[in-house]
Amino acid sequence: MKIVLGPASEELGEKIAELTGMVKVLVVHKTFPDGEAYVRLESSVQDEHVAIVQTTSPPQDSKLLQLAFLADAARRNGARKITAVVPYLAYARQDKMFLQGENISIETVGNMLVAAGVNELLTVNVHQENALLKFLFPARSLSAIRLIAEYFVKKGVRKAFALSPDKGALHIAQQAQQVLGGECGHLDKQRDRYTGQTTQTGKGLNVKGRTVIIFDDIISTGGTIVGAAKILRELGAAHVFTACVHPLLIGDAEKRILDAGVEEIVGTDSVPSSVSKVSLAPLISKELKALRSG
Ligand code: R5P
Repeated sequence: MKIVLGPASEELGEKIAELTGMVKVLVVHKTFPDGEAYVRLESSVQDEHVAIVQTTSPPQDSKLLQLAFLADAARRNGARKITAVVPYLAYARQDKMFLQGENISIETVGNMLVAAGVNELLTVNVHQENALLKFLFPARSLSAIRLIAEYFVKKGVRKAFALSPDKGALHIAQQAQQVLGGECGHLDKQRDRYTGQTTQTGKGLNVKGRTVIIFDDIISTGGTIVGAAKILRELGAAHVFTACVHPLLIGDAEKRILDAGVEEIVGTDSVPSSVSKVSLAPLISKELKALRSG
């Protein structure tokens, strides 16, 4: 198996190649003056199983297209199997028609990748596992929550209360709890599908004097974490940290979260950022080694 270093995840791809011992395929890429993308594989993939490592964080459309172009390049240049390794899978939140007249974005993304030649996909903490069922090829989501929780344990934070910002993400807090050894729970979050406005409540939560880590899959604008931190302050939490797998951190999200009294934000290199303190390389490498020998 060879590792294609997608332009959006070059550093992560390098780490995966180092950990797996797999040969790297470098990518020449550029954007033409009119905004169109160009990619070229620098070495042979003839008869190889290739893993293309390319995240699809903002700007997601151009990164998705680069991924499709790379798959097409690999297929046309003789690769026998193409695994797309997409740490942050864009459009997974639109996995069904919530309102009449909508589309199913993740299905269109999957169809585009099939047409480009992708045979299977590996992602990390996809927002909805159901989203992967829309693909016409095998797709798996790995969980980085244990790795993130281990970061806190190494830092000396043990028995912290693992909190998810809504009930749907409780499984994330539960995974963290297994490593942290404390308790876990969730807030309640309601979203207005028309305006996008959310409301959060923390009924029945006992975090007085406790260290709390808010775990989420994605931090986008930071609104969810800022709201959760406010509730935790009102409930008397002593220390509040937050962690996510995909730190999109749109606009001044990082500052807003820290201003809300959160002591530290921890994310992974799924989305390279100032808070990407945990690498996904060991998790993805283990899976690729298993795929190689399987
Ligand atoms: C939503 O269900 C996700 O799990 C995140 O909670 C959400 O994407 C975070 O968005 P924001 O940071 O904009 O509140």
